[in-house]
Amino acid sequence: MPLQRSLSEISDLDELKNNLDDCGRCSLSGSRTNLVFGNGDPNASLMFVGEAPGFYEDQKGEPFVGAAGKLLDQLLKQILGLNRSNVYIANVLKCRPPENRDPKPEEISACKPFMLRQIEIVDPLIVVTLGNFSTRLLLDRTVFISKIHGEPIIINNRRVFPVYHPAAALYATKTKELLIEDFKKLGDLLIEADRDIEREQNSKENKGEEQLDLF
Ligand code: URA
Repeated sequence: MPLQRSLSEISDLDELKNNLDDCGRCSLSGSRTNLVFGNGDPNASLMFVGEAPGFYEDQKGEPFVGAAGKLLDQLLKQILGLNRSNVYIANVLKCRPPENRDPKPEEISACKPFMLRQIEIVDPLIVVTLGNFSTRLLLDRTVFISKIHGEPIIINNRRVFPVYHPAAALYATKTKELLIEDFKKLGDLLIEADRDIEREQNSKENKGEEQLDLF
């Protein structure tokens, strides 16, 4: 299916979404009920990237509306004091794999340019990758979430913060504890990222004033 415009020219989430309408770039188009593009604040400082829609997401066309989503909501509210409307949430795959099986490489490759552009357009301070698939996509290498969760990594000038997928924490107490710990770290990271931005803005303003003083 030819793109109307190259993705890098698209700077609006709705237009990016329109590019995916009727998407048939991989075989998941044959079994999906709805494409799940993502939703939330298009200018969010915090963006979450999950793996792929499950049953309820496929039915509703929205990300994280099932049990894992409820846990994500709780973590957002109780630890960060945030609602869904304050963050942006998307997935590596926009369509549900049958029986919630793992995404296949060709499905990831088909969706990847859209996921990456979605991040560029939202332009968050921090991308939180939920689980192995989104972490590997953003880091562009095979890593294991058990080894690298809870430590920020700078990719293309942006903080990427890998954590366990909430679905993995639903029935595993230890994993849930680690996820809670990581969300607490995420709160600190968000404050630090906000301060960096403020510092940058102040230094730009100061430079502007210094230049004006020259005249
Ligand atoms: N798991 C995901 O990775 N994404 C969803 O949207 C729901 C469950």
